[in-house]
Amino acid sequence: MKMEKIENAEIHVDNRKLACSVYRGTEGERAIDIRKLRKETGLITYDPGFVNTGSCASKVTFIDGEKGILRYRGYDVADLAEKCEFVEVAYLLIHGSLPNAEQKAHYSRLLNEHSMIHEDMKEFFSHYPEHSHPMAILSAMVVSLSSFYPELNDGDKEDLAMTVTRMISKLRTIAAFSYKKSIGEPAVYPRHDLRYCENFLNMMFSSPVRKEPIDPVMTEALNKLLIIHADHEQNCSASVVRSVGSAGANLYASISAGICALWGPLHGGANQHVIEMLEEIYQEDGDVDKLIERAKNPRSPFRLMGFGHRVYKSYDPRAKIAKELCKKVIAATNKNDPLLDIALELEEKALADPYFQERNLYPNVDFYTGLTYRELGIPTNMFTVMFAIGRLPGWIAQWLEMKKDPDSRISRPRQIYTGPNARRVVPINERK
Ligand code: ACO
Repeated sequence: MKMEKIENAEIHVDNRKLACSVYRGTEGERAIDIRKLRKETGLITYDPGFVNTGSCASKVTFIDGEKGILRYRGYDVADLAEKCEFVEVAYLLIHGSLPNAEQKAHYSRLLNEHSMIHEDMKEFFSHYPEHSHPMAILSAMVVSLSSFYPELNDGDKEDLAMTVTRMISKLRTIAAFSYKKSIGEPAVYPRHDLRYCENFLNMMFSSPVRKEPIDPVMTEALNKLLIIHADHEQNCSASVVRSVGSAGANLYASISAGICALWGPLHGGANQHVIEMLEEIYQEDGDVDKLIERAKNPRSPFRLMGFGHRVYKSYDPRAKIAKELCKKVIAATNKNDPLLDIALELEEKALADPYFQERNLYPNVDFYTGLTYRELGIPTNMFTVMFAIGRLPGWIAQWLEMKKDPDSRISRPRQIYTGPNARRVVPINERK
């Protein structure tokens, strides 16, 4: 994974100097190489949340947070969302190039062939308590795949390709089964005559006694939503996937850990919390200003959900796509969602407020995606599951890249210890 060395730099500390290289990526980002820092100076870097730390070089995704640019393998996310289906983007992230017609047909066929889950796995769903969060079920089911397909855990290249395809196909089936379990309906099996997104909608909304027609507007919307979720370079869950994988854990275990990280309300879990926040405003008095004041109060831990981002200091390009999509889907259903009106008012007022302006806080991907999923009939507690289905190809691409990178080592940050100095254990009857 070669970066271009552009200059030398020196770090001066304790009357010593450390010679370092400065590298540049293909889009001009620069990084100082401090790999020898501790060995040669005894110092470590202190960077909570890894705000300034580049943990790897990557060819998968490029973000310019200042300009609001997001590209997968060089393609702008809006261009991909306009012209591609989700399976093409999944193929792009994992294989590095967009599939031609023949490759796409082959890939779709493989996804269909692997769409079932082992019948014994179906049993697991029935033992979860009612109201279990589907993200808990999803992560458990994904790591369980490693028991059902153990031969693929450390397989050769061909086996790994199979594992990857299995996972992309089965995650969607597991997600739909967990929804059916939560509403007490029997599972609907995947069908080979349907494409990836249609198949998912069918498993969600048909039943053995009722065939639900699949609306092409909904299928198109789902494709776009999954595309905008598909990768986001070294975000919290992708870093977890790489980190777990760096210890030698198999792909299933690494992805399962990534699903757990995504569940957090500061990460992908925010899409569920956005809707809950909008519902709260709606059910109370519709007062958006009160909520904005609460978010600005330094003594309150409350944050405006779906706002702000570690990397984007301008409008999140995914939020732009999701906002337009949401309006389109609502128009197609001829319904009016009062939560969209509240969201639009909230965005307008927050963007005009100096608190949000000074901190460059804009709507992020989660602000409008939940509203759109809601229009597709997806229940609120499934929103983060939808995000996980979309993010899966990105996690896989990051994991595969980490495995191939000769610079990759087990993830193991350092710390600055601030606890007590050495002390002796006092016998229990002498302790105060
Ligand atoms: N509402 C109110 N204030 C906010 C918000 C928000 N949503 N987000 C950031 N701020 C404020 C912080 O309080 C801080 O203010 P200060 O400088 O006065 O202390 C300042 O903006 C900078 O925020 P940080 O927390 O330092 O930013 P960080 O990069 O660590 O966090 C994060 C980014 C977690 C996304 C944050 O903006 C947040 O909590 N947003 C709400 C949750 C959310 O929507 N998460 C989804 C992100 S997208 C994704 O992961 C898929």
